[in-house]
Amino acid sequence: MDWGMKNRLSKIIRPETGRTVMLAVDHGYFLGPTTGLEEPGKTVEPLLQYADTLMLTRGVLRSCMDASKNVPIVLRVSGGTSILGNLADEGTTVSMRDALRLNVSGVAMSIFVGSELERKSLLALADLINEAEEFGVPVLAVTAVGKEMARDARYLGLACRIAAELGAHVVKTYYCEEFEKVVKNCPVPIVIAGGKKIPEREAIELSYNAVRRGAVGVDMGRNIFQSEHPVAMIRTVREIVHKDLAPDKAWDLFNTLAREKGKAFA
Ligand code: 5RP
Repeated sequence: MDWGMKNRLSKIIRPETGRTVMLAVDHGYFLGPTTGLEEPGKTVEPLLQYADTLMLTRGVLRSCMDASKNVPIVLRVSGGTSILGNLADEGTTVSMRDALRLNVSGVAMSIFVGSELERKSLLALADLINEAEEFGVPVLAVTAVGKEMARDARYLGLACRIAAELGAHVVKTYYCEEFEKVVKNCPVPIVIAGGKKIPEREAIELSYNAVRRGAVGVDMGRNIFQSEHPVAMIRTVREIVHKDLAPDKAWDLFNTLAREKGKAFA
């Protein structure tokens, strides 16, 4: 692995702990102005200092983010669909040239294993990896889960392993029962998405269980920016991911931090 690739990877997965808290705000590329991301710049601003890296689209990066902020970027480079269409019918939307011009630390693309467009998405991932390798840019493969798919270790394990076999440097998937099997069978680091908003206490448990069972961290969006206390949430997730803070103590921390900014949770 060349120096550039190692250097960029070290900006995504922190060498101090081997872990990462990625703040995901790329949802608008197919969801539009989803709750909490109506004004991405305002949403991200108070959270940035607690994120190891930011995952977002080219458009939001350029139009909403302060270029002087030194936060590593993982750029969403697939898209072309919307919530109104066939989400699996994504293509590549950003050239490697433009990604490099934006000085990103990594690029991200979804794969749709099991969909009728799986081949298209997997070959697009392979093409992206071929080009990214030339420039020492890590690729984060995002294992999208179709509505008809079971979000279980068998399916997620298949999707993660395929992504890794194609050469992805990091894989983003979801936490599931027997998650340790998904991690064991995937030869590259795994981060978990948080998925739809769940109660903070559950999201805390999810984060803890994922890293305890081998994830190198989270690439979390809605469970942070749709929380009533986003800063308290990302700070708590940070303590879990980088210091293995146990769920009970993490829940106490969340409430303490939330109290600092308004009413606490019961
Ligand atoms: C959306 C994505 C998000 O980056 C990923 O799902 C993480 O966000 P969340 O924690 O809200 O699920 O890929 O397409």
